[in-house]
Amino acid sequence: MKEKILVTGGAGYIGSHTTVELQNAGYEVVIVDNLSNSNANVIDGIEKITGIRPAFEQADCIDLEAMKRIFDTYSGIKGIIHFAASKAVGESVYKPLLYYRNNLVSLINLLELMPVYNVEGIVFSSSCTVYGQPEILPVTESAPIQPALSPYGNSKQINEEIIRDTIHSGVSCKSIILRYFNPIGAHPSAEIGELPNGVPQNLIPFLTQTAIGIRKELSVFGNDYNTPDGSCIRDYINVIDLSRAHVVAIERILENKSNAQLEYFNLGTGNGLSVLELINAFEKATQVKVPYKIVGRREGDIEQIWANPGYANEVLGWKAVESIEDTLRSSWKWQLKLREKGIM
Ligand code: UD1
Repeated sequence: MKEKILVTGGAGYIGSHTTVELQNAGYEVVIVDNLSNSNANVIDGIEKITGIRPAFEQADCIDLEAMKRIFDTYSGIKGIIHFAASKAVGESVYKPLLYYRNNLVSLINLLELMPVYNVEGIVFSSSCTVYGQPEILPVTESAPIQPALSPYGNSKQINEEIIRDTIHSGVSCKSIILRYFNPIGAHPSAEIGELPNGVPQNLIPFLTQTAIGIRKELSVFGNDYNTPDGSCIRDYINVIDLSRAHVVAIERILENKSNAQLEYFNLGTGNGLSVLELINAFEKATQVKVPYKIVGRREGDIEQIWANPGYANEVLGWKAVESIEDTLRSSWKWQLKLREKGIM
């Protein structure tokens, strides 16, 4: 068994897939999750896939005393992968303080406890949202950070600054900041996947819920952008590819593969796909029709962004390999599984 890793938000969408990949790679995982946007059944799904039940503690990362108890109980945690955060862009506009409290205090607690418990490093979930609308595409890690368009986006930027300043203050911990593009898809077993609360705000869950008949039609937010077909372009990355990058990142820290104390990587495929192209690709991959209509632009959307993942490819030796067709089929299989289980 390799080192013990604390995965905050490990019952969530990306956290659960990363736990699977960590366990497959031989790491011992302790999940802490407050279940505010997830379900304890996810732990069963992880166990079904890997044959190993990760340790699970229901707690909130903003609760310093609870976090201390967890570090005491599971002594010898060597690394942290910090997913736990509030992530609905729209909601953050109406509840900024909730977003700042959740997303800032949890990170501060973890950074304070790391030296106390000899934790060597932290991998942090950031977002390509920090680049705003980049002038040069595909976007590299050295592109300028733009003013955030929402409290959610701002919380990610402040998180990055908190990590940077903490590392610069001379602590001995290391950090890798991963800037995700648009994670989609589900584990091919359909034992775990994305389970949004209420009406989905993100494209794929809304699309699969429309395809299965829960929603009447998908609204495509704008077809008058300056892109070939007029709809927005994003870099959709398979959640398993994304999860594997976390395993590589934590390994890089724990095995001292780099002298750098702080590194940033873009996690994307390098391919931009428009909303209309994505709908097409889904229909082709699954042979299922998606009723849609074009509506006005959504406030705060950027026109187009996709990654230059070259730095991650070269330095981490990691690359996104799953095809968009397989990825979309996995999303559909997951939606069918939710129906079968009577969840949706
Ligand atoms: C957003 C955030 C990102 C955050 C992510 C997860 C921004 C700029 N990006 O990504 O930081 O990590 O959510 O919550 O704030 N679309 C439709 N119809 C729909 C839903 C979406 O046409 O019903 C379009 C959007 O206009 C966009 C694309 O699909 O062009 C993807 O949207 P979405 O899945 O919400 O992700 P982002 O907005 O890219």
